[in-house]
Amino acid sequence: MEVVIVPDAKAGGELIAEAIAALLSRKPDALLGVATGSTPLPIYQALAAKVRSGAVDASRARICQLDEYVGLPAGHPESYRSVVLREVVEPLGLSEASFMGPDGSAEDVLAACQAYDKALAEAGGVDLQLLGIGTDGHIGFNEPCSSLASRTRIKTLTEQTRVDNARFFDNDITQVPHHVITQGIGTILESRHPILLATGEGKADAVAQTVEGPVASIVPASALQLHPHATVVVDEAAASKLKLADYFRATYAAKPLWQGL
Ligand code: PGA
Repeated sequence: MEVVIVPDAKAGGELIAEAIAALLSRKPDALLGVATGSTPLPIYQALAAKVRSGAVDASRARICQLDEYVGLPAGHPESYRSVVLREVVEPLGLSEASFMGPDGSAEDVLAACQAYDKALAEAGGVDLQLLGIGTDGHIGFNEPCSSLASRTRIKTLTEQTRVDNARFFDNDITQVPHHVITQGIGTILESRHPILLATGEGKADAVAQTVEGPVASIVPASALQLHPHATVVVDEAAASKLKLADYFRATYAAKPLWQGL
């Protein structure tokens, strides 16, 4: 996988927004898989600024969700549907019709998972999938020991992930759902270009294991090593435990600009 070390989160956001802009200029109706959490926000801010300035036409872009809590009432402000509408769809000036996600309030969760996998395939597959990484190495909500071949399905969150996400629920862990629907690792690996952004020292161990450790379900993000075109963008703090950091820096510095990410 390609590892790009950037000075800070803002630079990471700008770089990835550029990659999305390049994709939209060659494929205006690209299907963009978006992630939630704090990490990707600089990407969405940079992209929305490009749309506002007229540098990017995102009017035909399609957006799809990576994961969703199970059991939050429809319209809950922290459901990922609400978050993606608020942070991505609205700032890009898109309508809800351009957006798809799994139904976390469905009575038949299994059917909702299968329907979402099918809908992604019928939409032509995900062109570019943004990913964050959990401190435990999860991508989407594929917690450690998720099958590397998994499809969209229901998962149980680890205690660590619920602690990490309590900040979105008034710091009250009892409000954080136990269950989620997440694109599987197999589903994520079908995207044409997964891009993982990690920032901050808290992610340094997970990043090192993802990039330089063995492919192992204990670190779900390490499955990205199996993808022919996966990009990992990290700030200096998240890169601080990479043994090959200097090699990654030199490689990227020598990369022709036209190649993009
Ligand atoms: P964060 O979440 O960006 O809020 O750290 C990442 C993740 O859990 O995938």
